[in-house]
Amino acid sequence: MPRRALTLLALPLVLRAASGAVWCYDSQDLKCGPGKWKDLAPGCGGDNQSPINIDRRKVQRDTNLGDIHFEGYDQAPPGKWKLMNNGHTVVMHVEGESMSEHINITSGGLTEKYRALQFHFHWGNLKGNGSEHTIDGRQFPMELHLVHMNTKYKTFKEAKGHPDGLAVLGFMFKVSNADNSNYNTIVAGLKNISHAGDFVELASTFCLYNLLPSVSQLSKYYRYHGSLTTPDCAEAVVWTLFEEPIPISQAQLNAFINTLHFSANGTAPGKMTDNFRPPQPLKNRKVYASKDAAISCSSVPSASHVLLLLLLAFPVFHFSVPL
Ligand SMILES: *[C@@H]1O[C@H](CO)[C@@H](O)[C@H](O)[C@H]1NC(C)=O
Ligand SMILES: *[C@@H]1O[C@H](CO)[C@@H](O)[C@H](O)[C@H]1NC(C)=O
Ligand SMILES: *[C@@H]1O[C@H](CO)[C@@H](O)[C@H](O)[C@H]1NC(C)=O
Ligand SMILES: *[C@@H]1O[C@H](CO)[C@@H](O)[C@H](O)[C@H]1NC(C)=O
Ligand SMILES: [Zn+2]
Repeated sequence: MPRRALTLLALPLVLRAASGAVWCYDSQDLKCGPGKWKDLAPGCGGDNQSPINIDRRKVQRDTNLGDIHFEGYDQAPPGKWKLMNNGHTVVMHVEGESMSEHINITSGGLTEKYRALQFHFHWGNLKGNGSEHTIDGRQFPMELHLVHMNTKYKTFKEAKGHPDGLAVLGFMFKVSNADNSNYNTIVAGLKNISHAGDFVELASTFCLYNLLPSVSQLSKYYRYHGSLTTPDCAEAVVWTLFEEPIPISQAQLNAFINTLHFSANGTAPGKMTDNFRPPQPLKNRKVYASKDAAISCSSVPSASHVLLLLLLAFPVFHFSVPL
């Protein structure tokens, strides 16, 4: 009898592993965390993976990376906002037809028009930060991803098959003393979606600009080509990481950390914390800075470096300089 029970228990696990559907974060189970994703989805072992660390000493200025044109970011789209716990994160999209019809981005080095599909978050725990991208090795408390699809493709699946298929805008968060009232609706909705599959239709609509830093800061960003940060990790994303973080209070951040739960799969569902993938190798890629973005000073030779080089290159000159 005990042997038979074992067989029955083991079977569903084998089936799930074979289907390649199960992935998770290390905070759920080390056996299906980011280090194992490439075994479940070979794409996750590719050469152009996301997230990455943005090293501001190594980014390259591209003056063609000007203002991004945000269309429909300044008005509440018709239809209801639907906030959902999908078992991995909190995701927002509009009920019925997607936000896509009304919200899109162009310019800023994007060759086509990209329409908005959904946005979602990645965060840490009460003691640790949880952004996916890092800047100069620094991780931020939370990261917002606004996912857009190239309008020249018909479906998300088709777009995922092309390097220019998707454009994701990434924003870091910083902890501020005061609540960010623009996040009140989302934060209040979290308690209604504490378990995987739960969703809530938000009563009030709002425009996306309200969730972002002020418009004057949106021309400062970094650009590189990468992937989705969850399996299948499709290398189809033109990434835009904004320099200016979004302020949020510790209490609002804690609402994400304390209220939500991952999907269960038999055992009791764990708290949804640390739902981020760590930075991946840059390999042969370059990261570009927009015309207004900050570049670390040490990326250009300083005056003293130039003088030292001259002294080393011309020792005669060096010794003959009267001091
Ligand atoms: C839980 O199981 C479902 C169905 O097999 C699967 O889709 C999901 O990815 C699993 N989640 C985790 C975290 O293992
Ligand atoms: C882009 O957004 C604008 C502003 O809402 C809208 O008028 C236009 O139809 C949208 N275009 C596409 C292709 O979705
Ligand atoms: C985590 O975020 C806080 C607040 O932004 C920051 O002060 C701290 O340096 C970050 N910690 C790490 C390890 O990056
Ligand atoms: C959220 O849940 C509370 C009670 O748990 C309920 O009163 C409220 O109507 C719910 N909100 C929505 C938008 O469904
Ligand atoms: Zn994401």
